[in-house]
Amino acid sequence: MEDARAAGRRVGFVPTMGALHDGHLTLAREARARVGEGGLVAVSIFVNPTQFGPNEDFSKYPRELEGDVERCASAGVDVVFAPDAAAMYPEGEKTRVHVHALSTPLCGPFRPGHFEGVATIVTKLFALVGRSVAVFGRKDYQQWRVLSRLAEDLMLPVEVVGVRTVREKDGLAMSSRNRYLSNEERAKAGAIPKALGAAARRWNDGERDALALRAMVEAELRAVADSIDYVEVRHPLSLEPYAAGDQALVAVALRIGKTRLIDNVVIGEEPPPA
Ligand code: PAF
Repeated sequence: MEDARAAGRRVGFVPTMGALHDGHLTLAREARARVGEGGLVAVSIFVNPTQFGPNEDFSKYPRELEGDVERCASAGVDVVFAPDAAAMYPEGEKTRVHVHALSTPLCGPFRPGHFEGVATIVTKLFALVGRSVAVFGRKDYQQWRVLSRLAEDLMLPVEVVGVRTVREKDGLAMSSRNRYLSNEERAKAGAIPKALGAAARRWNDGERDALALRAMVEAELRAVADSIDYVEVRHPLSLEPYAAGDQALVAVALRIGKTRLIDNVVIGEEPPPA
């Protein structure tokens, strides 16, 4: 990385947990677009234990390094970095990074410690990679906001970029966890982008009442979800409850079967997802 920079190459960085799909490859292509053909694009693959709760899917999270390396090569990635847990969390390590306020709402209460785990690993990765443009997917919208804040607050030489969610034909946000869904569950999941799309259209028709938007999304999700963690309408940058403004984040988290899915749309900014 240092050599590349010394030679005047810009570095684009895409942190991932592997099980790469077209959404990730879009992030790699965005990194390439940012650093140019002469730049260096690096992807990290690390299933980070500290961001999973005790009852979450750490042990069953898909691991397929060989296929991932091939996918990276096909997307023009120059370097794949796949450390093991002992390299990232050596014995005796004690430091955790916590981004206040932005880690608190939305997924915060449902995944205690999650954003601290994410912030900690990404700080370590940013320290290793150094001056770069780091590209994240906006499917994990709150994560993107947390990490943008983190880079700024810690004065890291990293520009954090968020890329719009890449979706399947029916609008379902691409996610490594979609593979947990049975066919029947996968069909139900199509209701998520539809509900967000309906909210976006209501917004475009002039609706600004957050409670009304929330109620309508929730009603649509109730028809398919086994449980709903939240449906929230928030300010897209501060993540405070939406009060006024030309744009709003509508974010949802729900379970279909055993699989927890999240999705969002920034209404007033991006087109309806379905
Ligand atoms: O979005 C992910 O895949 C992970 O949360 C990240 C950013 C790679 C940190 O482990």
